[in-house]
Amino acid sequence: MKILFIGDITGKSGRDIVSSLLYSLKKEYSVDIVIANGENAAHGKGITIKIYDKLIHDGVDYITMGNHAYSKSEIKEHLDGMDRIVMPYNHIKRTDDPFFRIIDFKDIRFCLVNILGEAFMNETSMDPFKAFEKVMNKCDDYEPDFYFVDLHGESTAEKRVFMEYFKDKVRAVIGTHTHVQTADEAIIDGCAFISDAGMCGAYDSVIGRDINESITSVILKEKTRYTIAEGPAIFCGVLIEFDDKLKIPVSINRIQIRP
Ligand code: FE2
Repeated sequence: MKILFIGDITGKSGRDIVSSLLYSLKKEYSVDIVIANGENAAHGKGITIKIYDKLIHDGVDYITMGNHAYSKSEIKEHLDGMDRIVMPYNHIKRTDDPFFRIIDFKDIRFCLVNILGEAFMNETSMDPFKAFEKVMNKCDDYEPDFYFVDLHGESTAEKRVFMEYFKDKVRAVIGTHTHVQTADEAIIDGCAFISDAGMCGAYDSVIGRDINESITSVILKEKTRYTIAEGPAIFCGVLIEFDDKLKIPVSINRIQIRP
């Protein structure tokens, strides 16, 4: 089983590069399942039903979210019909929204989960460690062979600790949120790990955001609207291959395509 995990799709540039590359990437790497983080897909904050439909149409199988999961108010009313979306279990605004998906591939059954980190996350989340214990309590009835976690957070250390603590039950911890792809991908005691898968979004930008606006916001501390940069995009993700019989990851490789 080969899973392509696509890093935070950010704004129109990010959506466009996914749309233009995904078909050929799936072919080139014989990808079986595509998971993408879509929490920045709608102009940097959240996702709309229209964008969700387009990403699924373009070949994404499952969409994980993050701290901006509830930024678009329409999301709540559409969640029933969005059967490929995974909302972060420990987001302070989550009530009974879907927080996991059971995925069957050949003899493998795994549970895809989205968890928010807590460090430097502006109090959008609750304790990720307690949260994931609760998720496993709720999902163990489905008897998954393992869990696959999109851990959406700012702190690389927190993500590594999460992986070390849960690696017996989790076969992949893929970090998202910082938009900067890290070079620490590894299989560690049977768990595929990377601190951050990176971003799909405008290359000339500050993590996807307009450069001038970022300067105004960071240096002059002026209030700005959140403007997403435009132009040619970078594509970032990781390819994780599993041994179908042993049901463990055998490789994790970064993909980064710059304009
Ligand atoms: Fe985020």
